[in-house]
Amino acid sequence: MSESVRVKLGERGYDVVVGPGALAELGARTRGSVGDGAGRAFVVIDAGVPESGVTAATGSLKAAGFELRTHAFDPTERIKSIDTATRILEHLAATGQDRSEPVVALGGGIVGDVAGFVAATYRRGVPVIQCPTTLLAMVDASVGGKTGVNLELPGAKLLKNMVGSFHQPGCVVADVSVLNSLAPRHVRAGFAECIKHAMIAQSVSGVDLMGWLEANLDAALAGDPGVLSELVRRNVAIKADAVVADERETAPSTVGGRALLNLGHTFGHAIETLDGITPDASDPSLAPLHHGEAVGLGLIAAGACSRALGMVDDAWVARVRAVIDRVGLPTAVGGLPGDDELIERMGHDKKVRAGVLRLVLPEGEGRSRVVDDPDRAAVVAGLGAIRA
Ligand SMILES: NC(=O)c1ccc[n+]([C@@H]2O[C@H](COP(=O)([O-])OP(=O)(O)OC[C@H]3O[C@@H](n4cnc5c(N)ncnc54)[C@H](O)[C@@H]3O)[C@@H](O)[C@H]2O)c1
Repeated sequence: MSESVRVKLGERGYDVVVGPGALAELGARTRGSVGDGAGRAFVVIDAGVPESGVTAATGSLKAAGFELRTHAFDPTERIKSIDTATRILEHLAATGQDRSEPVVALGGGIVGDVAGFVAATYRRGVPVIQCPTTLLAMVDASVGGKTGVNLELPGAKLLKNMVGSFHQPGCVVADVSVLNSLAPRHVRAGFAECIKHAMIAQSVSGVDLMGWLEANLDAALAGDPGVLSELVRRNVAIKADAVVADERETAPSTVGGRALLNLGHTFGHAIETLDGITPDASDPSLAPLHHGEAVGLGLIAAGACSRALGMVDDAWVARVRAVIDRVGLPTAVGGLPGDDELIERMGHDKKVRAGVLRLVLPEGEGRSRVVDDPDRAAVVAGLGAIRA
């Protein structure tokens, strides 16, 4: 049984369909979004999605009358590049895809970001349908229209999401049953974005998510489909509210806008792109960190930074840390470079404005706000909290 959350963006509004078995609705939902004129669809497939998920998606699209072209790739942050986007654009052009025909992204956040970027730019924009297959992509990446690729500068510095575009999907279909095959490490990474949402839920939507998360975490971690569906819907509703309030992240306001979704990300991006950092000191082969692991560490760093600024009490910081720990995400890592280098790396983050570091920091239960140019000592305290 699927249920929908509506992203109320007027003529760019769309449904996020969530539930076990929702992929069976993909064809009809895509047809409903793009209309009867489109004869073909181009499916960008994450090579990690099991055959059963691919068959469910492609079968549903074919049953709705779409002739399919497909392009699969194995996603990594280095493959999330202009080169990969170019190859897919060439494939689209070579098959003569026209402007009414949709691109369908079937995969995790990397495939969704690349396919969304391709759809945003091919012939100046064709429809995109997002089918997220990781928890992180379901609760976050597939909703809100941010698309993009990374840039790699000489010297191998990877700049995350440096090139991209806003391009809202025509529909999102999140089938929680495909999460059964997801590696536990990737499931844990998805919870980092849920905890982030719980830290902004009051500011954005006036709701409590942390209490629900704490009460339902064991069932969600055990893969209960009903609880997972509810988890995705509650998170999508918060993300949707932030997006509707501030679609292109331009709101000057320091409360409630889309910028709040960046909580934990400026700290996180500074460590996510470091080679050799492992989430488990006993296993160096797990390096580098996954996006969600870096975000989880970023949430802890943001909490400690906020505490050092006197913005938040110990109880909330401890509660956040406890839930991150319960999920099994790392709470500290070894091998981080010195504070100067990390702060310099934070300065490369897109959230930096006019050379001034801009952080989102927690203020208390479910509330966070933007802080410009935070005291360096507080930033160092934040970094200190995640050093093993
Ligand atoms: N656009 C946005 O608003 C937004 C928001 C948050 C994150 N992101 C981006 O999302 C990316 C991270 O996404 P992610 O965490 O989904 O990682 P990912 O895309 O790397 O996918 C994780 C792994 O899971 C595999 N996989 C995918 N679905 C599977 C399934 N059902 N079963 C088994 N394996 C499966 C993939 O092949 C990959 O190996 C980052 O690049 C991040 O920048 C974008």
